[in-house]
Amino acid sequence: MRDLSFCRQQFPSLTRRGENGKPLVFLDGPGGSQVPYAVINAISEYYQHHNANTHGRFITSRESDRIVDKARLDMKAFLGAPTEGTISFGQNTTTLNFLLAQALGASFRPGDEVIVTDLDHDSNISPWLSLTERGIVVRHAPITDDATLDLDAFKNLLSEKTRLVALGWASNAVGTVNPLSTIREWTRQVGSLMLVDAVHWAPHGPIDVGDLKPDFLLCSAYKFFGPHIGILYAAPGLLDTLPTLRVRPQAPTGPEKIETGTLNHAALAGVSAALQFIGSLDGDNQATYSGQLHQAMESIYAYEHSLLGLLYEGLSHMSPISLYGPAVNQSRRAPTISFTVADMPSDRVAEALGQQGILVWDGDFYAMTLVDRLGLRDKGGLVRLGLAPYTTADEIHRTLDAIGALGVRRRG
Ligand SMILES: Cc1ncc(COP(=O)(O)O)c(C=O)c1O
Repeated sequence: MRDLSFCRQQFPSLTRRGENGKPLVFLDGPGGSQVPYAVINAISEYYQHHNANTHGRFITSRESDRIVDKARLDMKAFLGAPTEGTISFGQNTTTLNFLLAQALGASFRPGDEVIVTDLDHDSNISPWLSLTERGIVVRHAPITDDATLDLDAFKNLLSEKTRLVALGWASNAVGTVNPLSTIREWTRQVGSLMLVDAVHWAPHGPIDVGDLKPDFLLCSAYKFFGPHIGILYAAPGLLDTLPTLRVRPQAPTGPEKIETGTLNHAALAGVSAALQFIGSLDGDNQATYSGQLHQAMESIYAYEHSLLGLLYEGLSHMSPISLYGPAVNQSRRAPTISFTVADMPSDRVAEALGQQGILVWDGDFYAMTLVDRLGLRDKGGLVRLGLAPYTTADEIHRTLDAIGALGVRRRG
């Protein structure tokens, strides 16, 4: 396992201190990671030297064209996609998902079915619920007590009426990773499309759409050290067939077909820089950029999981803490730990940790159905700790001490 904490120097924000003068501990990554100098510089460099609209007959416009093309090529490498023509950009994942739902929904007929899951972020539920107005039926795949999908119930929902299964790669609330290959197989058997929300997984482990072969996959660069921008992978040729909302001069084929209006070119320069930063962490022995990024993501996974073990072990010995989601080290999962403290609402826990300079999220993180199913609505939802390659073991110990100081006792 490579120690990746050397990458801390790349993040200017990590030198910030809180109100009490202590260095801040950034465990808020699932809401958006910190951003390295390389990304900040690439965005600034764009505005200083290349700022123009695309497809013009002058130097800055041609440079902008190259920046957009490069971002597609780099995302193709990151996702293991077959061509850069399968990569579209948009404002964020939620907006791209709504645009897709509008376009796909136009080809669905009343009585056709879409399956969503109780584990998902609402960004991958509400766009599909919007289709019910047209008589499309949305079915909800339930979860079990440990916040994993109930696979028997899931399988029973599939039928020849299923047109789309929309589900997450990993839960942004509790870290569960879904058995995507199995579900891909099931969707093939009934002739359904499959859409994967990889927003929470993309910062934590490799993605290979060439292997999984989803029809659509979405992620957001601001979760993996980049700027606020959404990315859509659509299987080759698929966008060409969809009636996306578009202005008449817009390209009638993918990847531009779903890109309404002018893209954020500076942010696209930042996307390439974010991927270059990831590639700098490991994988320089690999023959291709895709191989390098893949290996770097495996190293991020291994590093974050060594810290996750420490955090989980510490928390599981504390009383009265309840932990949610699959146990650590039993399966592949995201390095995201959520818990509640008995007799203390989650906002108070997050507030108290925030006062100690430990930045954590509380609530449902838009995974509303999951929090309701776990019966935690009255509690104010969960407290969520998210790890990143810039997290250190010292920060984990500091966090455990701060949680301990909330009046939580060690068990046994
Ligand atoms: C799992 C998951 N899906 C979707 C989203 C929405 O992404 P965006 O903010 O890019 O719309 C988020 C954001 O937190 C997320 O965690």
